[in-house]
Amino acid sequence: MQAKTSIDQLQVFIGKNVTLSGWLYHNRPSGKVQFLVLRDGTGLCQCVIEKDTIGEELFEQIKHLGQESSLSVTGLVREESRSPGGVELAVTAVEIHCGTMDYPITPKEHGIDFLLKNRHLHLRSLKPWCIGRIRHTVIDAIRRFFNDNGFTLVDTPIFTTIAGEGEQTLFEVDYFGQPLHLAQTGQLYLESAAMSFGKVYCFGPTFRAEKSKTRRHLTEFWMVEPEVAYIDMEGLLSLAEDFVHSIIQRVLKDNRSELETLEADIAALEAIQKPFYRLTYTEAADILTSDRTREFMAKQLDEFEGEKKTLEQELANIEAADAKGGLKKWQQDKNARRMLEIRGELDELNTKIENNPKHAKLAAEFRWGKDLGGSDETIISLMHDRPVFVTHYPRDAKAFYMKQDRENGNVVENFDLLASAGFGEIIGGSVREDDHERLLARIHEEGYNPEQYQWYLDLRKYGSVPHGGFGLGVERTVAWIAGEKHIRQCIAFPRLMDKVYL
Ligand code: 4AD
Repeated sequence: MQAKTSIDQLQVFIGKNVTLSGWLYHNRPSGKVQFLVLRDGTGLCQCVIEKDTIGEELFEQIKHLGQESSLSVTGLVREESRSPGGVELAVTAVEIHCGTMDYPITPKEHGIDFLLKNRHLHLRSLKPWCIGRIRHTVIDAIRRFFNDNGFTLVDTPIFTTIAGEGEQTLFEVDYFGQPLHLAQTGQLYLESAAMSFGKVYCFGPTFRAEKSKTRRHLTEFWMVEPEVAYIDMEGLLSLAEDFVHSIIQRVLKDNRSELETLEADIAALEAIQKPFYRLTYTEAADILTSDRTREFMAKQLDEFEGEKKTLEQELANIEAADAKGGLKKWQQDKNARRMLEIRGELDELNTKIENNPKHAKLAAEFRWGKDLGGSDETIISLMHDRPVFVTHYPRDAKAFYMKQDRENGNVVENFDLLASAGFGEIIGGSVREDDHERLLARIHEEGYNPEQYQWYLDLRKYGSVPHGGFGLGVERTVAWIAGEKHIRQCIAFPRLMDKVYL
């Protein structure tokens, strides 16, 4: 009797017969034995197929199966330290469900455009699979954190009547003749719910018509937003710190092998301890224009140039070895793969070398009053080995709902959390303006229609209390933890400003 099981459970079945169902990851015939790697969504397993065991006809059929053929294999689970997962399957029976030829995505490097066009298939590849598993853990960790800490989940609407984050990035929809827009944030509704439940959170898709093609922007992304009644800046910062720290700990615990496969910097993640750094916006502005930043940027440029030289040398050596000839097929393939990798790395380095002086110039010219741009955030974040809170931004650069600092009226009680390693902002949050007259004045200043904000203003009339919250972007958090440069890889079907593929 053999049990149906999945690859992640195989350790329990050592010495027993099982059936696995999955897809062919890759196939290496070698004389009378074939080494077939099967994936089933939970992992990879090496399956050893001997001609003498399964018969000549089936053996030949399997030999010609292409990548992503679907099949079920039955056999004995045995320990094998060289195999992924430490076990392998000695196969006794094979059932082929769908033989596949010419699967378009092969283990060689493909351009990102090609992969996104084929995202319906690309999701099966190792990298999107690892990222998808990490995303799953991040989302579970988010829910657990809030559920375990006395927060009530409140689902805020996707069709909304008022703008939270500026009218420039609204997606308008025709709602039976009434113009509404897709949610840019659940925050304003959540503030109302916080006055009922005390501590609340919402978690859902968020839409921004951002005319931004950067690696940090999607037009549809997932954001989790907690909102708390009777909280101040200090309370918010420590909530955000505990929250982000708990997410990292969960991924380190549950997804170590995915992080290893992605070559994420596990040591750097482990080194992230509380407290995170804290800077005021004014201090961050001073850092950007300081000699320290100028020297830091110059040193970075030197490092990029050095890495470029090393890679160019490696490329020249491989080309020379190839030209000399006499290499075995596997050596030629290995060289071809490495050359592709090097060319990709060189492209990235050239972009960094080109951008470095531009970013250094932007930082040197930074003036108090501007919002921090993407490159400013990258610089501040690169200069710190743990996440950094930047607090108290200029009032005029930020959203209307943020509470004006009562001691320095030019700034608001807000913060952004910049992730480490140059990743940049993953959280934006603030204490909310709880004074009716000040909030109304800001609504007028922004040119919004106060009538539309009537219900929001009501919250400042009936039992107004100090309150605040923040929003964390899921894709940015996953990208940062997984060491992935572009957030488009961190959602199954990305929506980008310039392209929606499928
Ligand atoms: O800083 P933001 O705009 O804050 C808000 O929306 C507040 N209403 C949140 C609150 O206080 N309840 O966005 C919060 C986070 C950002 O730090 C970022 O991680 C993510 O949402 N985000 C995006 N992620 C991907 N693509 C975009 N276009 C994003 N815009 C924001």
